Amino acid sequence: MRDLRGRPLRDLRVSVTDRCNFRCAYCMPRELFGADHAFLDRGDLLAFDEVEELVRAAVDLGVTTVHLTGGEPLLRPGLPDLVARLAAIGGLDLAMTTNGVLLPRHAAALAAAGLDRVTVSLDAIDDAVFRRASDSPYGASAVLAGIDAARAAGFGDVKVNAVVRRGVNEHQVVPLVEHFRGTGHVLRFIEFMDVGATNGWTDAEVVPAAEVLAAIGARWPLEDLPVRRYGETARRLRLVDGSAEIGVISSVSTPFCGTCTRARVTAEGRIHTCLFSTGGTDARALLRGPRRPGDLAELLSGLWGNRSDRYSEIRAEVRASGTRRAAPVEMSYIGG
Ligand code: GTP
Ligand code: 5AD
Ligand code: SF4
Ligand code: SF4
Repeated sequence: MRDLRGRPLRDLRVSVTDRCNFRCAYCMPRELFGADHAFLDRGDLLAFDEVEELVRAAVDLGVTTVHLTGGEPLLRPGLPDLVARLAAIGGLDLAMTTNGVLLPRHAAALAAAGLDRVTVSLDAIDDAVFRRASDSPYGASAVLAGIDAARAAGFGDVKVNAVVRRGVNEHQVVPLVEHFRGTGHVLRFIEFMDVGATNGWTDAEVVPAAEVLAAIGARWPLEDLPVRRYGETARRLRLVDGSAEIGVISSVSTPFCGTCTRARVTAEGRIHTCLFSTGGTDARALLRGPRRPGDLAELLSGLWGNRSDRYSEIRAEVRASGTRRAAPVEMSYIGG
């Protein structure tokens, strides 16, 4: 299954809830996601059997990795049951991206259900900076406890994602590396992106990966690691002293659309072929209505076969032209 640019469909990122217990300013700013924000009703969310049916259809088209995301995926009741259903499909690399604070409660059940990998978001190691960035009562220590719980449950080394935003946490880059050196966990720095319409993105707030690498390299010499697979989001490096692997995900300064193999499903079952797309296509209506075998596969293959997305490559032109359409999907719906 190839799209119009010859890119295969390999990864499906499935959001299981639009709720989160954090209010990171770049994702769910509290002014817009406050007490009166209308989250999706339970019945609006894809049910686990619907997610399973969708994943099975995607696997038939070539998907080999499924990422569970949110919002915060651990707020979805019964998540291990979904993991067990997806693990039963067989042969899938099953990952989850979480803010980590609920891992002490759920890591063991997720591991037992067959989850393969956990990625944890952590934007600062300093508690005060972390609290401000996540606009939550949690300190970085709550996330570190989650990372420890993941390791104790058998997930081994986890990936730790830090979104770097100028004026907010760029001074945390070196302390984060300092903290994770020698732990085996892989720290990845993500350029702040203009996802959705509510995060007030300006390119002045993007800290380019080159700057992140220069700051780390000034302290610990770095060397590149070989590319491991087609379509990898991160450029991987290691500290020459062997104490850590790090990565940079530079979709603003060095877009990687050319090898983008990812399709995304929102919590309410809309399929997006790009993180920056608007609207999406409703798969839930099909899943809930009368259908013939093969209808879902037809929907997916039609979408992928007609895909030409490459927003990060044309970001500057699209923004300059002012034609960016009214309502790009929000990060808390599409899960990154
Ligand atoms: P693994 O390396 O297999 O764990 O996959 P991954 O890097 O896709 O997983 P992860 O959830 O850690 O993604 C890291 C972050 O990279 C996401 O949260 C996004 O911020 C960014 N990202 C992932 N995929 C894309 C993409 O297709 N386009 C853009 N622009 N950014 C992406
Ligand atoms: N730019 C870059 N990364 C983002 N994330 C959320 N919003 C943005 C954004 N605007 C990250 C989260 C998490 C992952 C799912 O996406 O911090 O690591
Ligand atoms: Fe929640 Fe992640 Fe969004 Fe922060 S970035 S508000 S942790 S979903
Ligand atoms: Fe893929 Fe769209 Fe991200 Fe480009 S901008 S890498 S096409 S999701």
